[in-house]
Amino acid sequence: MIGTANGVRIGITGLGTHVPERVLTNEELSRLVDTTDEWIVERTGIRERRIAAKEEALTDIARPAAKAALADAGVEAADIDFLVCATVTPDMMFPTSSALLADELGMPKAAAYDLLAGCTGFVYAIAQAYGMLASGLSKRALVVGGDVLSKILDWEDRSTIVLFGDGAGAVVMEPVESGGFLGFELGADGGGGEHLWLPGSGSRHFDDPDAYVKMNGREVFKFATRVLVSSGSELLAECGKTVEDVDVYIPHQANRRIIDYAVGKLGILPERTVVNVDRYGNTSSGSIPLALADARSEGRLRDGALVLMTGMGAGLTWGSALIEWTNGGAR
Ligand code: ACO
Repeated sequence: MIGTANGVRIGITGLGTHVPERVLTNEELSRLVDTTDEWIVERTGIRERRIAAKEEALTDIARPAAKAALADAGVEAADIDFLVCATVTPDMMFPTSSALLADELGMPKAAAYDLLAGCTGFVYAIAQAYGMLASGLSKRALVVGGDVLSKILDWEDRSTIVLFGDGAGAVVMEPVESGGFLGFELGADGGGGEHLWLPGSGSRHFDDPDAYVKMNGREVFKFATRVLVSSGSELLAECGKTVEDVDVYIPHQANRRIIDYAVGKLGILPERTVVNVDRYGNTSSGSIPLALADARSEGRLRDGALVLMTGMGAGLTWGSALIEWTNGGAR
């Protein structure tokens, strides 16, 4: 699916993030499994990640992020009428984490549901919120993206535990005076789904069910580098923009080598790219909002800046969003 915003101005008016306190370093991982700091840094660029405590579930890290986003937008929770939470690690299948969050935060008027699109979840969710707001069905939306992948990893599998971390982010989306989203490109290829999957997680009966993430790293690497380039460049073309127009590039923070490859292929200047995978690892649906927050704290989200975000992950799925950033607030 690809499309432009057709001049309907919907933007991000509030942003908040939260990560668990516990920092897990490569050195600690090397005491758990047969790996080294050098191997992890060279292959992935990751130095440390945050890991949720035993009692911390998705809503425990999403709630502070959501509160921060609401405060940042200057919006009361009760004024949110649409809440979508992108995650593959909800507290439980139902009630949904969105319904729990809406209740805890105090959003009695909000439609609330979870969205499953792997690490692309946040981009899918903002596209969905855009559609709700642009049609006039929703007046003010809260989009949450977050995961606690540490809960579904096999802690004896060195090929996956070095990659992932826990974290969440949230944005308030509303009609804005200037700027706003220019377009979206979203896609899925279930044929490649077996390269990154959680077989024992649903209603399909397997002889040998497995409750942990399984990944074919090389295939995922090939997929990720391909779609980062194709999705970003197709969306820019659709919106009549070029890579030179992009002021801030926010690729999903999966792996430094994947990001470097895409930046080179797309021809985006490295200094316009946001990278924080070294500190957080791959936080799945939390990755793009966490990177957005870093871009803002570095003063890169100036008024009018063109921001390209691209996510990709399990499904296999991918998605890009192009937004002209506005610091002007809601209309
Ligand atoms: N420490 C040391 N050795 C390791 C580790 C580790 N943590 N993990 C794997 N190895 C070994 C393998 O067993 C293999 O050994 P062998 O040759 O004796 O069999 C060797 O390292 C090389 O393995 P490869 O899989 O070929 O290594 P590669 O260079 O492809 O790097 C990696 C592996 C980092 C997983 C890479 O394939 C990758 O980044 N893939 C993308 C995965 C990803 O980003 N997933 C995130 C989810 S999806 C998404 O968000 C896009």
